[in-house]
Amino acid sequence: MSGPADALVAEVMTTGTLTGLPQGHYIGGRFVPGLSGNTMESFDPGRGRAFARFAAGDAADVDAAVAAARTALCGPWRQMGPAERGRILARAASLLRERAARFAVVESLDSGKRLTEAEGDLRGVARAFEYYAGAADKLHGDSLPLGRNYVGFTTEEPIGVAAQIIPWNYPLSTVARGIAPALAAGCTVVAKPAEQTPFTALMLAELLHEAGLPDGVLNVVTGTGAQAGAPLVAHPGIDHITFTGSVATGTAVMRAAAQHVTRLVLELGGKSPLVVLADCDMDAAVNGVIEAIYENAGQICSAGSRLVLDRAIAVAFMSRLTTRVKGLRIGHGLTNPDLGPVNSLRQLETIDGHVRRAVAAGNRVYAGAAIAKPEAGGSGWFYEPTIIEARGADDPLVQEEIFGPVLAVQIVDGADEALAAANATSYALVAGIYSKNITDALRFARDVDAGQVFINEWFAGGIEVPFGGNRKSGFGREKGMAGLRSYCKLKSVVARI
Ligand code: NAI
Ligand code: MG
Repeated sequence: MSGPADALVAEVMTTGTLTGLPQGHYIGGRFVPGLSGNTMESFDPGRGRAFARFAAGDAADVDAAVAAARTALCGPWRQMGPAERGRILARAASLLRERAARFAVVESLDSGKRLTEAEGDLRGVARAFEYYAGAADKLHGDSLPLGRNYVGFTTEEPIGVAAQIIPWNYPLSTVARGIAPALAAGCTVVAKPAEQTPFTALMLAELLHEAGLPDGVLNVVTGTGAQAGAPLVAHPGIDHITFTGSVATGTAVMRAAAQHVTRLVLELGGKSPLVVLADCDMDAAVNGVIEAIYENAGQICSAGSRLVLDRAIAVAFMSRLTTRVKGLRIGHGLTNPDLGPVNSLRQLETIDGHVRRAVAAGNRVYAGAAIAKPEAGGSGWFYEPTIIEARGADDPLVQEEIFGPVLAVQIVDGADEALAAANATSYALVAGIYSKNITDALRFARDVDAGQVFINEWFAGGIEVPFGGNRKSGFGREKGMAGLRSYCKLKSVVARI
């Protein structure tokens, strides 16, 4: 095997780190050291060891970044037409494709995800810039029919300075799906990546300025949620927040946003049901379940973490699924195993806690249910791919997001019971169904409460498809044209003539 990533992977495997990682925050078009001088460590989850330091920002750095973003709002950026903004995003897309190998290796090293997953993320990130490059000059309002004596129309204006609070599971994909539409709409941005995965957002900021972004249009402040995230979301100089992360932190962000009546999109957790009916294509459904819950070691807000399975095929299906899952190979993300590590020791302990409680309560275990032994000599954070049967709808295994490679199984009788089970949690992010009967599948799509429904392929779709949740999964939409409108404020103009 040889590819553009090989030399970088070899460097990590021999030295434990990579040379040339970005240093400092990215503010006003350049890398700057943190004002306090404090730094913190980022870890390689596959080894459980720190590999680099980065700036531990605080309120002073956030002030500088917000000031740069506000100034940039009135600078050359405002004079650029939408087509020119689109050209910058298109250049960024091609630069991302050229440099995909380095971005993917850094993403894999910092988050733990398999390299092939990170390479897939990079293709998606380039697509996001390409998609919104094409949308920048097609964002228009309506004309309003008020009769002969009036002219009425609406315009879509950039909302202003948009803050992005980013999680550690999809560091680059999440920041890109916020930044690309924000820039297409003419906003400026301050992004705060997760403290577990700071590097690819910094690399992206540098790349976008190389593509032609004026100084200060995109700023990145690194650091913890408490020290850097909290002052950003409470800042009076921001006009919009996009937050992706936990329900608890999302609630705190919503409270902070209320002080200045700041607009908000919340992408929170999920406990998404994957329904398998008796007439499904069994191979497709088994593959679908494996991808839905073991991709990125289950650390996905839209993971299919509940298998809602028709009793008529339960024995055969569970036997096939369990055999496949027991054969999954665990290893360092850069070695492309079937399943990589989880992102942090804290996350590993959280996952183990959920599973231990289920085992203690007497739930049936089909596979896994233990911390996995790292590869020889290794010290990374691995969890065995796990399948556990739930005991009724109130089981914590059904109700609580675990955010790890743990599948809860709920056995039901037929499509109606499956729908009831699917809808019986406080989350409503995505839902999926495997059935050859398109009427059953579309009725499920109609009746299930979810922001997105997958039929016969989990994770189907791309940047074109609006994404977001209902209920405790949050509100507002990213991706698609709906995602672009999140960064706009609508103005109505009416003239008497
Ligand atoms: P978190 O929600 O606390 O962190 C997400 C981001 O918010 C990070 O950038 C963090 O620095 C920032 N943050 C933390 N406190 C903040 C505050 N007061 N103000 C502004 N920003 C703040 O998530 P955490 O603790 O890393 O993970 C805990 C659980 O959250 C996971 O086990 C998982 O269940 C869930 N989660 C869900 C994600 C999703 O994609 N919906 C992503 C990451 C975590
Ligand atoms: Mg890391």
